[in-house]
Amino acid sequence: MSRLKEPFDSQFIKLSNLIVFAASVLLLVVVSFSVALFFAPEIITWISSEKKTEKPVVSQETPSDLWVAPDESLIPLDTHGDEIRYGKDLIVNTSRYLGPKGTVKSMSNGMNCQNCHLEAGTKPFGNNYSAVASTYPKFRPRSGMVETIEKRVNDCFERSLNGEALDDDSKEMKAIVAYIRWLGADVPKGVKPNGVGLVEMAFINRPANPERGKELFSLKCVECHGANGEGIPNAEGSGWIYPPVWGENSFNSGAGLFRLSRFAGYIKANMPFLITVENPVVTDEEAWDIAAYVTSMPRPKKDLTADWPDIAKKPVDHPFGPFIDDFSEVQHKYGPFKPIIEKQKELMTMSKGK
Ligand code: HEC
Ligand code: HEC
Repeated sequence: MSRLKEPFDSQFIKLSNLIVFAASVLLLVVVSFSVALFFAPEIITWISSEKKTEKPVVSQETPSDLWVAPDESLIPLDTHGDEIRYGKDLIVNTSRYLGPKGTVKSMSNGMNCQNCHLEAGTKPFGNNYSAVASTYPKFRPRSGMVETIEKRVNDCFERSLNGEALDDDSKEMKAIVAYIRWLGADVPKGVKPNGVGLVEMAFINRPANPERGKELFSLKCVECHGANGEGIPNAEGSGWIYPPVWGENSFNSGAGLFRLSRFAGYIKANMPFLITVENPVVTDEEAWDIAAYVTSMPRPKKDLTADWPDIAKKPVDHPFGPFIDDFSEVQHKYGPFKPIIEKQKELMTMSKGK
């Protein structure tokens, strides 16, 4: 018996040792984890947020089907690449080269292309250039002619920058076009990628209200753009930290942003500065009202008599007659736009029937 008992005893001892050992390991783990937690409760947040911080915030918020600009590091390291880089610099720092104190020429109002074409024309719904290379040259009803990229760029120089046109053959125009072509090089001909240009706003059922827009402007915009929409100049006076939104240094009445739907769409996805389309600060109604206020304030005027040679092609929110319908200029400025759209549809089907 005693010979049989011995192995049993030693087995029993081995087993209990194992249990004691396992229990101490468990205790050690629990104790060290609590100690770690006691000294660094942040560890939990760190662990849970580790995945998120891997990606830059922008791509995290950007649905994957939105256009993404090519990586700048892919610009070739040759003279063509130099031209593209100069083009980008001209978009970002237009005023430094071509503003009132421009080092190349004085031919525009001190604004930069980037003030409206955000992040050098790469931001989704930030008026980006993704579809320029793929869709130009194209017929534009505003001028009634087929426009090249050069012509479209000069439209913005003459209207948005209230300035003069650049020569198509100038070093600066060639560089700007080279950059824009490079940005859109991967977009197939004729395609407009998702996130191109500006957000298309739904029309509201009342006229946009400039008085309400004024109150909203003083709450949400005034800290950067100033109570008189005058902006804040940089220290050298060669450009703007915060660009003007009305007044003598702002875009003129022929600019795209002067139209209510363009202005509302621009601020909805982009203002206050640094917001994106996924987290707007103003509601649709607020965007329309602010647009009504800002575009009612004084600004440089452009002779627009040659625009929209076919008046049937005027957008409903182009506020200067003559129109094919008999709504007033005031309604074409502030809306409501739905009755105008209905009426125009009716007129078009009637004229087709003739
Ligand atoms: C005050 C704002 C503003 C500034 C500054 C501005 N633009 Fe524009 N630009 C616009 C608006 C608005 C549109 C039309 C967007 C739309 O209708 O969707 C536009 C359209 C364009 C287009 C055509 C885009 C397309 O997809 O068809 C090009 C190219 C362009 N701008 C180039 C420039 C360049 C180059 C500069 C600087 C010299 C410049 N813009 C400065 C507001 C501006
Ligand atoms: C925190 C500062 C800030 C606030 C607040 C802000 N903006 Fe801007 N805004 C900017 C900056 C900076 C730019 C130019 C962006 C660039 O160059 O990258 C700009 C550009 C603009 C532009 C196009 C360029 C121009 O001057 O015409 C408009 C229009 C505009 N803002 C309107 C508004 C409106 C309307 C609001 C209120 C809803 C607003 N912004 C709130 C900083 C701000």
